[in-house]
Amino acid sequence: MNGCTITGMGTALPDRVVRNEELTALFDTSDQWIRERSGIVTRRVAAGPLATEPLPPHVPGGLGTTGRLAVEAGRRALSAAGVTPDRIDLLILCTTSPDQQVPANSAAVSAALGVRGGAMDLNAACAGFTYGLVTAGGLLGAGARHVLLIGAETLTRITDWSDRSSAFLFGDGAGAAVVSSVPGEGCLLGWDLGVDGSLVDLLYTDHGAGMVMKGQEVFRRAVRVTVDSAVASLERAKVTADQIALFVPHQANIRIMETVATKLGIPTDRMASVIAETGNTSSASIPLALAGAVAAGRLSDGDLVLLAGFGAGMTWASVVWRWQATD
Ligand code: UT7
Repeated sequence: MNGCTITGMGTALPDRVVRNEELTALFDTSDQWIRERSGIVTRRVAAGPLATEPLPPHVPGGLGTTGRLAVEAGRRALSAAGVTPDRIDLLILCTTSPDQQVPANSAAVSAALGVRGGAMDLNAACAGFTYGLVTAGGLLGAGARHVLLIGAETLTRITDWSDRSSAFLFGDGAGAAVVSSVPGEGCLLGWDLGVDGSLVDLLYTDHGAGMVMKGQEVFRRAVRVTVDSAVASLERAKVTADQIALFVPHQANIRIMETVATKLGIPTDRMASVIAETGNTSSASIPLALAGAVAAGRLSDGDLVLLAGFGAGMTWASVVWRWQATD
């Protein structure tokens, strides 16, 4: 079995920045309340009442906003990795907000990128990218050479803009990684995947409807499952929390992120956070936070990274990863 490593990353965000203050035009809220309860200051928006431009008319088989963000992030990751699209054996597009119901969004994205290997969508909500990383690791171990893993969302298209208890949370964006095979153990040291489908009612979107969320209940469960999953991954990797150089949690709420870090015994200054700028971007949040930390020079060769996501389903996933610097 081969191991795997990340050989390049890329991100993409819509241009439109929406500040908390702008949301007061839609519902009764304040910048102070949103900052204190969630840590969010701005988010990027491609759809909904605050978007600058209307979504382009639907073109069957074409790319909507999720697809376009995915292509931009994917192209940047390929370029950073120095891998041409024809060498990708599988494109995994993690998303809860695809441009079309059928076919998978990854089909149009693969065509736009020139990927000729397989392509599939993966919906594990906000745990999507971490689920995808484990899936990529398995495939690379089984003989694939390169997997392009993308988390991309247009959550503002399925946000209920009349619901002040959830609408301020969500934003749009994409993050991507080229995951490549390497001889030997590689970088995926430990992982844990889980789901409790009896909790579907906590967070869901019906066809053609807006997102419904029981915020307090999600909060409570999120802390518990993320801590338990992270502990399981650390044990599998045979490392302890104090060895973790960077904790990259799903960016859902700064209070959830800090509570989980504290319960794990990881100082919050070792946590990657982009939530103030991006809000909750579901599948895109972990790669956006990881890419941000890499760009800021926060990771050195050999550093241990803990990724941990949770989301609708309820799903959860965590990974212990040894960072390998690329040239
Ligand atoms: O990606 C994973 C999915 N989502 C999550 O992880 C979200 C998990 N949940 C949360 O992050 C939090 O529950 C929220 C940030 C959504 C809400 O924070 P909270 O501390 O749980 O607030 P709450 O729902 O307990 O509401 C507290 C008060 C209520 O007023 P009363 O009943 O105390 O008078 C709400 O009506 O705040 C009120 N409120 C607001 N006030 C101003 C609710 N939304 C707002 C708002 N602005 N936007």
